[in-house]
Amino acid sequence: MGLYKIKSYGCQMNERDAETLAGILCQHGYKETEEFEDADIIILHTCCVRESAENKILGKIGELKHLKEKKPELIIGVCGCMVQQPEAADKLKARAPHVDIIFGTHNLHQLPEFITQVKEFDQQITSVWSKEGEIVEDLPSMRKDKIKAYVNISYGCDNFCTYCIVPYVRGRERSRKPEAIIAEINKLKAEAFNEVMLLGQNVNSYGKDLEQKMDFADLLRKIDAETEMPRIRFMTSHPRDFNRKTVEAIAESDSVCPQIHLPIQAGSDRILKKMNRGYTREEYLELIDMIKEILPEASLTTDIIVGFPGETEEDFEFTLEAVRRAEYDNAYTFMYSKRSGTPAAEMIEQVEEQIKKDRLHKLIEVQNEISYKKNKPLLGKKVTVLVEGVSKGNPDKLAGRTSTNKIVTFAADRSLIGKFVDVEITETKTWSLEGTLF
Ligand code: SAH
Ligand code: SF4
Ligand code: F3S
Repeated sequence: MGLYKIKSYGCQMNERDAETLAGILCQHGYKETEEFEDADIIILHTCCVRESAENKILGKIGELKHLKEKKPELIIGVCGCMVQQPEAADKLKARAPHVDIIFGTHNLHQLPEFITQVKEFDQQITSVWSKEGEIVEDLPSMRKDKIKAYVNISYGCDNFCTYCIVPYVRGRERSRKPEAIIAEINKLKAEAFNEVMLLGQNVNSYGKDLEQKMDFADLLRKIDAETEMPRIRFMTSHPRDFNRKTVEAIAESDSVCPQIHLPIQAGSDRILKKMNRGYTREEYLELIDMIKEILPEASLTTDIIVGFPGETEEDFEFTLEAVRRAEYDNAYTFMYSKRSGTPAAEMIEQVEEQIKKDRLHKLIEVQNEISYKKNKPLLGKKVTVLVEGVSKGNPDKLAGRTSTNKIVTFAADRSLIGKFVDVEITETKTWSLEGTLF
């Protein structure tokens, strides 16, 4: 019937949604192609968390114009977070008449109807639901990977951090029923998957909207008890709702990996308050101490924004100090990006680009040193690795991850891909480890 190409930007939520889009297209007879030029339908699945993401996507939309001119029957769809912003769909409609279908994050499942309509009436379709609907279960899906899978546990976000667009484009927080989550994980296990990443913008507030009394720690225990999935990971944790009960559940379960992604965003109480994060630096660091006490082997990662409106050199120093104290294994660092419609975009003391850049470089430098130092004690240690595939940097080697999510490369036969192996670490680097099969 035709070939499809989906280009997905943004976070794991989008990656997972892209698998649903792919599933829907396959169910309707389309097959995947790698090349935009070969496609009969192209879907750009957008992100708007930072301006840089949006600019990249707008550029890509522009590029597709000549493809449409060459092949008028080509269907181009733009969907996801970017078009969910107020007026974005209308602007896009006017700016890019070569786009056939514009749809949002809440109505991805309507794609087949839109395709039929475009084919029938040959007119531009814009359909963006302003509000989230009920969770739609059992949509088809074409998983990207055969070893690791994403499983949503909740959708949307109610936190409204003042810099962040996500709650506006992803709607209110909705938790999936535990039974649906368990069933999906069991199905994945039957399909030979060995690792699941549970997804939610704030996994720690899971269950608040459910009728049954169940929180995130209960969910972890239930998954551990009722599925045979060897490895369970989860993201993202929010310090406001993160608690000891969750860490104890990880410590007492066989499958939940000792890996916690706990975004701090900033180290200054003044900035944290302006960000509406709901915790102070000390409260955050107490959580880190608690994790280290109960789960000393856990790896810790974080997200940090530099240059939030009003951030002074002193505020930034607090961030560096917190980073040094928390000793993260890795940090995802961003320069603050103004998102229209969010409260922070209206704050008057916007920080200069050059200052943001300088702070980002300094922060990365400090973190890299810590990452390198934290990997060093692994030298000579035996670790269990789930083999994910051929190493990107060295095709003669395989690469996999430890339970703490560290990348390990080692020489071994490709038949081991998808399996667990023991590896002795022979060299430690900043972002990865080298080893030999044990
Ligand atoms: N729900 C998750 C992830 C949200 S988006 C969480 O709360 O951590 C991923 C990261 O993007 C955020 O953690 C934040 O560090 C960053 N981010 C979000 N909005 C941003 C903005 N306007 N400018 C720069 N970084 C931003
Ligand atoms: Fe954005 Fe904050 Fe929600 Fe994360 S918790 S998605 S940063 S509003
Ligand atoms: Fe981007 Fe939407 Fe995710 S804005 S970060 S794709 S939730």
